[in-house]
Amino acid sequence: MSSSSSSRDAKAFLVQGEEASYRLLVESVREYAIFMLDANGYIVTWNSGAERIKGYQAEEIIGRHFSSFYPPDAVESGWPDYELQVASTQGRFEDEGWRVRKDGSRFWANVTISALRDERGRLRGFAKLTRDLSERKRVEMLAADGARREQMLEAERTARIEAQRAARMKDEFLATLSHELRTPLNAILGWTQMLRSPQATEGGVDVRHGLEVIERNARAQIKLVDDLLDLSRIMAGRVRLDVQRVALIDVVQGAIESAQPAAQAKGVRLEQVLDPGSGFVAGDPARLQQVIWNLLSNAIKFTPRGGRVQVLLERVNSHLEISVSDTGIGIPASFLPHVFDRFSQKDSTASRGYGGLGLGLAICKQLVELHGGSIHAESGGEGRGATFTVKLTHAVARDFDFSGRVHPTHPTHPTAAENVRLPALDGIRVLVVDDEPDARELIQRILQNHGATASCVASAEEALRFLAASPPDVLISDIGMPGMDGYQLMRKIRADEPRDRRLPAVALTAFARSEDRKRAILAGYQTHLAKPFDTAELVLVVAGLMNRT
Ligand SMILES: Nc1ncnc2c1ncn2[C@@H]1O[C@H](COP(=O)(O)OP(=O)(O)OP(=O)(O)O)[C@@H](O)[C@H]1O
Ligand SMILES: [Mg+2]
Repeated sequence: MSSSSSSRDAKAFLVQGEEASYRLLVESVREYAIFMLDANGYIVTWNSGAERIKGYQAEEIIGRHFSSFYPPDAVESGWPDYELQVASTQGRFEDEGWRVRKDGSRFWANVTISALRDERGRLRGFAKLTRDLSERKRVEMLAADGARREQMLEAERTARIEAQRAARMKDEFLATLSHELRTPLNAILGWTQMLRSPQATEGGVDVRHGLEVIERNARAQIKLVDDLLDLSRIMAGRVRLDVQRVALIDVVQGAIESAQPAAQAKGVRLEQVLDPGSGFVAGDPARLQQVIWNLLSNAIKFTPRGGRVQVLLERVNSHLEISVSDTGIGIPASFLPHVFDRFSQKDSTASRGYGGLGLGLAICKQLVELHGGSIHAESGGEGRGATFTVKLTHAVARDFDFSGRVHPTHPTHPTAAENVRLPALDGIRVLVVDDEPDARELIQRILQNHGATASCVASAEEALRFLAASPPDVLISDIGMPGMDGYQLMRKIRADEPRDRRLPAVALTAFARSEDRKRAILAGYQTHLAKPFDTAELVLVVAGLMNRT
């Protein structure tokens, strides 16, 4: 037996009578590294096989953590801990992979870890058995030539990391699921027992409150089950969209209303900047509302008290964009690519404080894509909030010509303005502000052709004088102008007018970056039109602001 089994640690670890037989068995084996770990993964015994295979003497390795035998990438991905976790929950774990010797060289190992429990079922530690399969591996590798060998190694590494991630995710998911299902069950069972207790019959228990708790928790559980079923239905392609002409603003407002109580309860401010002329999409209103609601509930969930959640709805040329941004905990760059994966949550089961199954965003993504749209996430990193943006194709009247239904898998993309029956702008008075004479004239003509009366001015200062003298129904203003620019103009207008009678206003800019759009909306414009725009877009935007669509 190697010197280790005589060490005090090992003595304490092994139950008296077992030690002798263990000694014999272990000593006779030189082909295997056999050693034991305490419950936290620190090495407590070491045999001669271990010495031979791994190159450490007992004195140098006992007391160290067993992750020393793993390559850095495996340690980084948390694989050693994962092995112990599986061994302790399932009794045993077997794996094949690269391990590292004392001299830094790698060998291909077959590893078995068994949990050791005492007679009362308490975890004492782990027995670990490692076989060196390098020879077999070498023969395999020799059969392959150089480049292919590299490829094999690389493929093996990638496959392993991916498999590790998937295995961990599945495990974490099951743990999360049982936790999430049990939490409401606890409350339900606890209160049921309370209501059946003698005190309850004597009126000493608040029955009404108890029933409320039970109902709330039962509903929470229904939501979990619904989400699970929903996801499997969506994944199997069995979801049916009830596609209609949907005013997106209604959907967004519906979602905001249902998220409001949660925001209030948590002390998170919920702000909205919704373009009333944003228009329509072809979609299933209930499903779209579900998407926005999911984004809102995440934003509220991951934003601490005192924070802010902002919903922005705007029309950007042929798209409608909804973005939900928050000032919350943010998403680290390394996790960002995985947020839409099923069952993925940044917090693993042990440290999670937020609840949920990690399904919400996976469902959102599927639903948005079924609508022919896209969704993406941005974050400045941990502690810096997150923004989720959904883009959907704007639908014009023509899309609904046949019985008001569109097949979602064949979205029609409106390209030209022809064929579209545009709403009339009769009687609408528009003030156009642009320092460019050609641009002014073009807008004026388009508007007049559709029945509106359009007046033009060449600067923000002139616009303010005009507004004071004869206020129009709609203002269309360029942003970049010499002197006072379009942002300043709008802030001045908003500051001076009564809150309940806001002048509908459209910002026109040559830059369609999303910051520019946000700036325009934040300055007080209801909507934004990027140059070049087409006739139909301009007419639809004005009609939308005046509720003429
Ligand atoms: N607004 C956000 N801020 C920070 N992290 C977020 C935000 N939204 C999502 N995440 C991260 O993405 C993960 C996945 O989100 P998802 O909505 O899919 O799951 P969940 O909210 O954890 O659970 P479920 O939606 O199933 O109740 C979250 O667990 C969280 O780590
Ligand atoms: Mg969620």
